[in-house]
Amino acid sequence: MRVQTNRLFSKPAGLLHGGDYNPEQWLDRPDILEEDIRLMKQAHVNEATLGVFAWSVEEPSEGVFHFDWLKEIMDRLYENGIYTILATPTGARPVWLDKKYPEAMRVNSAGERNLHGLRHNHCMSAPAFRARVKMIDTQLAQALGNHPGLLMWHISNELGGECYCPLCRARFQQYLRGRFGGDISALNHAWWTTFWSHQFSDFDEIDPPMKNGEGSIGGLNLAWKEFTSWNMTDFLKTEIDTLRAVTPHIPVTTNFMKLYNGLDYRVLHRPLDVVSWDSYPRFGNNEEPLADTFAENAFDHAVMRSFKKDRPFLLMESAPGLVNWHPYNALKRPGIHSLAGLQAVACGADSVLYFQWRKGRGSFEQYHGAVVDHLGTGDTRVFKEVEAMGSQLQALAPVAGSLSHNRVALLFDWPNRWAIADMAGLSREKKQYERTCLLQHRSLLRMGVDCDILSMQDDLTPYKLVVAPMLYLLELGASENLTRYVQQGGNLVAGYLAGYVNEDTLCWLGGFPGDGLSDLFGVISEEIDTLYPGKTNAAIFEGGTRFAIQDFAELLRLKGAQVLAKYEQDYCQNTPAVTVHTVGTGNAYYVAARLEQAGMEHLYRRCLAEAGIPVQSLPHGVEFHCRYTEKERFAFYLNESENPATIADVFGTDMLTGQVLDGTLRLAPLQAAVLRQAR
Ligand code: GLA
Ligand code: ZN
Repeated sequence: MRVQTNRLFSKPAGLLHGGDYNPEQWLDRPDILEEDIRLMKQAHVNEATLGVFAWSVEEPSEGVFHFDWLKEIMDRLYENGIYTILATPTGARPVWLDKKYPEAMRVNSAGERNLHGLRHNHCMSAPAFRARVKMIDTQLAQALGNHPGLLMWHISNELGGECYCPLCRARFQQYLRGRFGGDISALNHAWWTTFWSHQFSDFDEIDPPMKNGEGSIGGLNLAWKEFTSWNMTDFLKTEIDTLRAVTPHIPVTTNFMKLYNGLDYRVLHRPLDVVSWDSYPRFGNNEEPLADTFAENAFDHAVMRSFKKDRPFLLMESAPGLVNWHPYNALKRPGIHSLAGLQAVACGADSVLYFQWRKGRGSFEQYHGAVVDHLGTGDTRVFKEVEAMGSQLQALAPVAGSLSHNRVALLFDWPNRWAIADMAGLSREKKQYERTCLLQHRSLLRMGVDCDILSMQDDLTPYKLVVAPMLYLLELGASENLTRYVQQGGNLVAGYLAGYVNEDTLCWLGGFPGDGLSDLFGVISEEIDTLYPGKTNAAIFEGGTRFAIQDFAELLRLKGAQVLAKYEQDYCQNTPAVTVHTVGTGNAYYVAARLEQAGMEHLYRRCLAEAGIPVQSLPHGVEFHCRYTEKERFAFYLNESENPATIADVFGTDMLTGQVLDGTLRLAPLQAAVLRQAR
């Protein structure tokens, strides 16, 4: 097992603790800015994210630049051991820009141009906007790019959304020309446009899927989403190139938003040096146990970690207390903050950063939680928890740069997600692709088996088990990739809805799963049934073990696979529900129906045993993760339940308490332990 460590930064030592800091809102209060430094030191803060949304202070009118205030603050922070992640201010536009260059304002899918306001709502194609971005970024990089406290560039903020203006429309057409080699008949074929008389005779005729326009061509809908990701990435790259021209040595990131549906993060992360994201789970909600909220957060962390597996990622934002935009803005109960911060580190983050350092007095986010409240003191409950988090992160300094090392992967792809959501069939509300992936991840995690989240085109060879739920759309090369993986000894679990369409959403002919996958799994799926809520079936495994089926069930024809479970009832009684096919030295499992999770776990136990991956028996609500260096391993145990937990056979020194374990780890509710162990 070869695991390299990879520190993201040479300084500061250890993990980052800090977050979004907007001193530009307090320039008339030097006393407060002074107090901020004192409080930051008290809270063991070593990082501040500056400049997010500061455009109108940095360039109050076109071509007039003010960075002195920013330099002064970076100086003061640096003198006090606090490093800066500096944002380009392009997440929100100053009013002068929109008045002079209205093309910067987005057009919505009904064709209406926005008026000035809010943030994050630019036309990413508009040349005038791109020119202003290039100007402010260049000036910023020239003014502050060689500051000794500068750690990293933070591009814009939470890129997202789409624009339907004439410029974006023309760029979309250009993109399609490139994609189909200028051949409109190739596009017509790929999009099956003869249906309902939708053939195009020129690329110029193609509109994006507007609200009151075309929405019935699956290939077009998907291409528009892919174009939006491509255009956003292109925009991101122009900001990166602008900064690199001045500061080639400073790494870049931009902050992602959970599993944001509008952008393919597999594409967007590529030009970045570091992946970072903003995590705001609804802890303490009334729909699920706390441990489930944590498990969803672990899934999101795994997605972010897996984009760049050779280095840690950053938790760029999290709420130290409450947020102001959940349906119910509950306070984080005592202990949750620390556990969530440690979970991020356990999952591979080298930081715990917040939105935001200090609450503003006015405007939209005045009631959003912050480290420093309107009260303004360093003795509030939230502040004290942040301070304690700071001490914990200091104790975990040796973890910085260590990496996860998982042998199980789950496939999760944006085009597949989009195509499933857009397909007219099954049951709109029960498709639940994201939730299905999440549940598989959670099941594995509860067995103490962490997994990476990959794309169907990624290299699967380091993994012993790959789980591919609802693999509906097969991207180019996916089938070959999966087949090679199994032939060379991999264990693959897929199932209902696998391999129905190609990358343009055209159905495969000759039997699902298509593109050769029916040979891999040794089955053909002939029909898929959608079960009304309340109607169930069951899969009966060898030995009579029975697991309920709901929502979806396929009728299989065998083509060489061996049957592991059969349907219990209905027209498909005694036909195969779960199969395995040995190909080369590996196994391809097919689960033809949506099994209750216990059934999936039954199967995973078999696959994990086959793959030689040990399963742990963890108390309910205890999450386990590991990070590695060449010589050591850091084992994280997080008790996300409301009950105390006891875990046997755990040795090492708890880095958080200094306690040396004699083989039994006892965790209070919401307590975590990080064991430093030799490998
Ligand atoms: C996002 C943004 C921040 C802030 C927070 C509030 O993550 O990036 O600017 O608005 O949400 O939760
Ligand atoms: Zn536009």
